[in-house]
Amino acid sequence: MEVILAKTAGFCFGVKRAVDTVYEQAGKQHVYTYGPIIHNEQVVSDLKKRGVRVLHSKGELEELKEGTVIIRSHGVPKEIYDIITSKGLELVDATCPFVRKIHRIVQKAGKEGKQIIITGSAEHPEVEGIRGWCSGKVTIISEASQMDEIDWKQPACLVSQTTFNYKKFQDIVEIIEKKGYDIEVCNTICNATEERQLEARSIAKNVDAMIVIGDRHSSNSQKLFEISSKECPSTFFIQTLEELDLRLFESTGKVGITAGASTPQKIIKEVHASMTEKSFEQLLEESLVTIHNGEVVEGTVIDVKPDEI
Ligand code: F3S
Repeated sequence: MEVILAKTAGFCFGVKRAVDTVYEQAGKQHVYTYGPIIHNEQVVSDLKKRGVRVLHSKGELEELKEGTVIIRSHGVPKEIYDIITSKGLELVDATCPFVRKIHRIVQKAGKEGKQIIITGSAEHPEVEGIRGWCSGKVTIISEASQMDEIDWKQPACLVSQTTFNYKKFQDIVEIIEKKGYDIEVCNTICNATEERQLEARSIAKNVDAMIVIGDRHSSNSQKLFEISSKECPSTFFIQTLEELDLRLFESTGKVGITAGASTPQKIIKEVHASMTEKSFEQLLEESLVTIHNGEVVEGTVIDVKPDEI
């Protein structure tokens, strides 16, 4: 069986940086992350074993008396930074630099008297965070049709959630150009997501089965599953190797593997290895050699040590 592993599978730059930061802090006393560091149960429970606890709300943060609070890659509203510093807690900022850049853009635009338009999903923590750096009027839209709701008398600044659909963003910019609105357009979409989706689509087109590894709560993993399923009907969504039924791939010629931005390399490697490495039984079967005139003519002689049996 041929196995193709996507080069873009797994953590993006910002998530890797945030997860590494938490592991570096994990040995200290009273370490908290503001929200789960990533959408991945395995990583969150491993960090829990190392003493890292998750704060689920502003109220929980306000109750803390000591410790270190780590901000995850999605970022948080300015108010959260203020609470952490006013309480004398240690702040470790693992906000993705691409998200921090958006905070700076909207903060500056607000000071210049501009209203802010964000393309994205209002419930997403990243958008909540961006909103929390705006000082004036903020409108969140996810479709070009919602442009009519905006009061165009006030100058505006447009930014995007980093994972927003690029095509939809282009449609919105097209309307702005046509209508000649007074607006500063900042394309803040991160191409890590787009690259991962494009690669998943192109692999799925050329394989007999596709495996998407990711946490069920991870929206970017679900998106990969959706994209892959369209191109390859035999697409499987799994969280860990335990959920993979290898028997389903017995007669599969080519398998593709990809993973969401919050899937740890360890899980990706385990799944990849299970698809590529031969089982012990397979090795034994292959060890049935045919010897002719003292020469091996069929099969492979395998050196198996007694303690491996
Ligand atoms: Fe950052 Fe892009 Fe990842 S914004 S968190 S590198 S998807």
